[in-house]
Amino acid sequence: SAALRPVGDLSGHSVLVTAGATQEALDPVRFLTNHSSGKMGYAIANAAYLRGADVTLIAAPNTQKAFEGIKIVNVISAQDMFDAVMENAENADMIIKAAAVADFRPAEYQDQKIKKAGKDSICLPLASNPDILQALGDRFGGKKMIAGFCMETENLLENAQKKLKKKNADFIVANNLTNAGAGFGTDTNVVTILSKDGKTEALPCMSKDAVANALLDRLIRAL
Ligand code: CTP
Ligand code: CA
Repeated sequence: SAALRPVGDLSGHSVLVTAGATQEALDPVRFLTNHSSGKMGYAIANAAYLRGADVTLIAAPNTQKAFEGIKIVNVISAQDMFDAVMENAENADMIIKAAAVADFRPAEYQDQKIKKAGKDSICLPLASNPDILQALGDRFGGKKMIAGFCMETENLLENAQKKLKKKNADFIVANNLTNAGAGFGTDTNVVTILSKDGKTEALPCMSKDAVANALLDRLIRAL
């Protein structure tokens, strides 16, 4: 029931989390997406809820479970997620962007199923999607606590540092896809947390729940 909710160090705080992998429609039967399971984002939303926060979760398609007291807004595409995040951001004092957002979408949606007959190959023009974390940083940077994620296959720290600066975020949680214990669908993660104030903390392999709490610890401390 709505009357029973956890009380903790995040009571009185409003946390907005994004999770899942956006889907970018090509025609009525096909879409572009990525391998993100949503586990990390749901771990953050659930951990924040257990610590007393008012949690809104903007969820791209995934199969994870969130506590009943979490407000879930389901979205499909990056553009949908952008709209939902902007609509819900004003109320939040902490925003955590764990979703794997497609950088590009099919430039034109085909109303009818694309047929293969007579074609040896096809070209698929893509258009760029809005960068949600960038828009949040531009609008709310320095006013709300904003954390992004960053997945790389090379030059992890260098790329993470660039994203932290460029997107005006307070924290970037960087993970190297090629690390043992990190990656898609795993219950553990190996991350390095970079902060605006210049700290770089390499955390050991931990459960995604523990990573979630480690990130929330840092956000609440910085608030
Ligand atoms: N992000 C976003 N909107 C996008 C793309 C990314 O909000 N259209 C956010 C992600 O949710 C993540 C952070 O930006 O928190 C970094 O995402 P990542 O894909 O690692 O970086 P990009 O800036 O998209 O750069 P690239 O994919 O080229 O490395
Ligand atoms: Ca990207």
